[in-house]
Amino acid sequence: MNNLLAGKRGIIFGALDENSIAWKVALKAHEQGAKFTLTNAPVALRLGEINKLAEQCGTVVIPADATLTEDLEKLITQSVEQLGGKLDFVLHSIGMSPNVRKGKAYTDLNYEWFNKTVDISAISLHKLLQTCHKLDAINDWGSVLTLSYIAGQKAFPGYGDMADAKAMLESIVRSFGLYYGNSKKVRINAISQSPTKTTAGTGIKGFGSFFEFAEKMSPLGNAPAEDCANYCITLFSDYTRFVTMQTLYHDGGFSNMGVSEAIMQVFDTEK
Ligand SMILES: NC(=O)c1ccc[n+]([C@@H]2O[C@H](COP(=O)([O-])OP(=O)(O)OC[C@H]3O[C@@H](n4cnc5c(N)ncnc54)[C@H](O)[C@@H]3O)[C@@H](O)[C@H]2O)c1
Repeated sequence: MNNLLAGKRGIIFGALDENSIAWKVALKAHEQGAKFTLTNAPVALRLGEINKLAEQCGTVVIPADATLTEDLEKLITQSVEQLGGKLDFVLHSIGMSPNVRKGKAYTDLNYEWFNKTVDISAISLHKLLQTCHKLDAINDWGSVLTLSYIAGQKAFPGYGDMADAKAMLESIVRSFGLYYGNSKKVRINAISQSPTKTTAGTGIKGFGSFFEFAEKMSPLGNAPAEDCANYCITLFSDYTRFVTMQTLYHDGGFSNMGVSEAIMQVFDTEK
């Protein structure tokens, strides 16, 4: 299907390099006729990779630290100007935990870093939504998406304080979904994605085992980033107008499994 996003304007957060989920969403959104700006934290922009993406998508990069409301205000105002009208979609594809990155165990968290984890990975969504709401920057029936992981709902070793951030993120999706839905018919959802080989993903201790376990547990196997991007496009499109306040699993069936035959075979005592 083509031109699913024709005439739509948006902002895409979180494209760091070509493995990033946001990178793939940007390419698909461009393919489907959307106009959008790209953004990332100033420190991430120094890598310079995102400029290649901007060139491919015929757009600009506007730096913004998603934890700073003044940066968000500038980003949103400049994006509306640059794109020639209010927004129809926003992708929030942001996550980082200093505790996870520095190998701090969940039972020995540095609380200053914990605050950072939650600020970057969850509260930034609230800040983004609140700023858009105040500036009235999103058109009626607009769609905001964020990326989550099942560790926000069930316990997984090694995911550390990111699990708490994801639980909060999914709660913000519901709470802001209520207010923004009432006032402007804006819909807000989280996609809970399979383990994916990106900078954020592979930074988790034991990522390789998570990845292989989920692959063997899921009837369809792990959902690739490319397909996650396709799913995002459908959720930005007009074909999903009444979907809001949800955590939507894009995980090959993992979240509804008890145990799979492939995992049973690993523990087969009758061999
Ligand atoms: N990779 C996985 O296994 C997986 C699985 C489920 C969900 N997710 C989620 O998907 C989202 C995207 O991650 P990814 O896997 O594409 O990895 P990624 O590392 O490519 O993307 C994470 C992005 O967050 C950005 N970021 C960090 N701090 C920021 C700040 N202060 N302001 C603005 N941007 C900031 C980074 O620069 C980077 O672009 C994250 O929320 C992640 O938790 C990832």
